[in-house]
Amino acid sequence: MEALKKKLKGLFPKKLMYLYYLQTAKKAVMFDIKRRVYDKVYNNSDDEKVKRDLTLAYHIVEKGLTMPTPRPGFGKPVVISLCNTVLKYDTMNLPKTELEFKQSVSVLREYYEYHIEIGFKLDADVLEKLEVIVNNFKGIEGLKQCHISKEDYFKDVNSPFDLFCKSRYSVRNYTTEVIPVKVLHDCIDLAQKSPSFCNRQPTRVYIVKSAEKKTGILDLQNGNRGFGHLAETLLVISSVISTTKDIHERNENHLNGGMFSMTLLNALHFYKIAACSLNWSVSNDKDEKLRKLLKIPENEVPLLVISCGYVPDKFAIASSPRKTSKEITVEHL
Ligand SMILES: Cc1cc2nc3c(=O)[nH]c(=O)nc-3n(C[C@H](O)[C@H](O)[C@H](O)COP(=O)(O)O)c2cc1C
Repeated sequence: MEALKKKLKGLFPKKLMYLYYLQTAKKAVMFDIKRRVYDKVYNNSDDEKVKRDLTLAYHIVEKGLTMPTPRPGFGKPVVISLCNTVLKYDTMNLPKTELEFKQSVSVLREYYEYHIEIGFKLDADVLEKLEVIVNNFKGIEGLKQCHISKEDYFKDVNSPFDLFCKSRYSVRNYTTEVIPVKVLHDCIDLAQKSPSFCNRQPTRVYIVKSAEKKTGILDLQNGNRGFGHLAETLLVISSVISTTKDIHERNENHLNGGMFSMTLLNALHFYKIAACSLNWSVSNDKDEKLRKLLKIPENEVPLLVISCGYVPDKFAIASSPRKTSKEITVEHL
C-alpha cells in the first residue's frame, strides 16, 4: 500500500498534490470553524457571556493591582465597564455565589480601597460607580491579591506535589539577575518529560535574552504591559507541524505544546524562577514578524511566550481564584 501511495505521489505534480491536501484540510478544518462561528453568532447564552466578560475585566484589574508599580487611577475604562457588568449581572438574577461575580465585586472593592490607601483621588465618574458596587454588595467576598516575600513564595518548591502545585502562580515582577542558560536547559529537559503523541516530541523552545529581540517580541504581544520589559529571559514555545501525519492531527501541536508548557512552568518554579505565560493569539502579520525575528521555520507554529526572571524580595501576585472540581465536572457513573 505504502509503495503504491509513493508511486501515485510520484505521478502527480506537486501543485496538484497541494490542491488535493488543501481541499481535504479545508473540509476538516471547516468542521471546527463552523462550530466556533456558530457559537459567536447564535449562542445567545447571556449567562455565559456575562461571566466571561466579568472574568476578562476583573483579571485585568487584578493584574493592574499586582504590577511592580501600579499606576494610580489605572484602567479607568475597564473599571467602569466591570462595574456596569456587575450591575448587569445583578439584574439578571443569577446566583451571587458564582466565582466570577464574587471576584469581580471583591476586585473592585480592592481597587477602591487601594486608591484611598495611597491618597489618590479617582475621577468622579469612576468613583461614583465604585461606591455603588462597594455599598450594594457588602457581604460579597472574593480573594484579595497576595503580597508575598520571595522566601514565602518558594517555600513549597520541595514539598509534596499538592503543596508544590498550589504554590505556583504567574509572577509579573522580575529582577535583573541573570538566569544561567544551563538552568534554563535543566528546566527544558524536565519539560521534555511531558507526554507527547506517540512520543513524537514536537515542541521546540527559543531562549531569548537579546534585549533587542525581547523588545521586538513584547511589542507584538498584547498582554505584557507594565511588566514584560522586566523579563530577563523570554521563552518562545513552538511546535513542528511536520511531526503530524495528516490534518486530523492538527490540534496535536497545540495540545502537546500545552502539556509541555505546563511542565516547563512547574520546572521553572522548582528552580525558583518566576514566570508568566503570554498568549500568542495574534494576527497573521504579527506571527510572520515573530517568525522573521527568531528565524522560526515555516514548518513550526509558535504557541506561547513565557516571560521569566528571578523575583525581588517582596512582590505581589494576582490571586486568580479557581472554580472547584464539582463546578467543572460532569459525572457518568
Ligand atoms: C495560554 C495562556 C496565555 C496567557 N496569556 C497571558 C498574557 O498575555 N498576559 C498575562 O499577564 N498573563 C497571561 N496568562 C496568565 C494567566 O492570566 C494566568 O495563568 C491565570 O490567571 C491563572 O493564574 P496563575 O497562573 O497565577 O495560576 C496566560 C496564561 C495562559 C495559560
